[in-house]
Amino acid sequence: MAHQGAADTQYRTEPLLAFVTRTMARERAELREIRETTEAKGLPAISVGPDEGRLLHFLASACGAKKIVEVGTLAGYSACWMADALPKGGMLHTIEYEPKHAKVAKENVALAGLTAKVTVHTGAGMTVLLTLEAHGPFDLVFIDADKTGYGDYARWAAKNVRSGGFVICDNAYLFGNLHRDDLPADHDDKPKVAPMRAALALLADESLFSSCAMIPTGEGMAVAVRR
Ligand SMILES: C[S@@+](CC[C@H](N)C(=O)[O-])C[C@H]1O[C@@H](n2cnc3c(N)ncnc32)[C@H](O)[C@@H]1O
Repeated sequence: MAHQGAADTQYRTEPLLAFVTRTMARERAELREIRETTEAKGLPAISVGPDEGRLLHFLASACGAKKIVEVGTLAGYSACWMADALPKGGMLHTIEYEPKHAKVAKENVALAGLTAKVTVHTGAGMTVLLTLEAHGPFDLVFIDADKTGYGDYARWAAKNVRSGGFVICDNAYLFGNLHRDDLPADHDDKPKVAPMRAALALLADESLFSSCAMIPTGEGMAVAVRR
């Protein structure tokens, strides 16, 4: 039978995806607890899912990451997945604007036994990124915060990731609105379209990145390899 292309396949059913998560993206108990208690602790349930956590772990492993930066910590769920891929002596710096989120994240990092590998910074993404440059170059930068900042975060990442390192942008489909030129001016996602497109254009710039791809997670995860 001819392959119909990803947009036409019916394979990605809930039961099939649940099977894949069970077999390939099982969380250790502490990470599951972090994910499942996020809402009860008063934070929005907007972390990546277990399959995306596994993907981030895979990408960190694939580039042999020792130094990682994350913009957008929330409760520390994705940070813990990536930190689990770090060797002894590795460090993940994660940046969170909301002090309440940062406090919960620090507790969760301790719960996961990762305090030696994760530093939670409280502050605005760009402000903190500028203070981290001295610790670079980095092996991987994961961008998962305010979408209006993606262009600036991606530019920072391109400057501060080593050759062969990865820059990753979550929510790259922009909630289904990435391609839309017709969003009403008062639509929530309207101001996010240009910065997200700027970030993706940068990742597709062959003078800076040797390759890039959109990984078709539900939210779209864009990844590029620094030249
Ligand atoms: C989608 S959540 C991050 C989820 C997390 N990466 C995970 O998967 O577990 C986005 C986080 O970015 C934070 N944030 C929003 N604007 C920010 C900014 N300007 N600088 C840093 N963090 C910001 C939000 O408070 C929120 O906690």
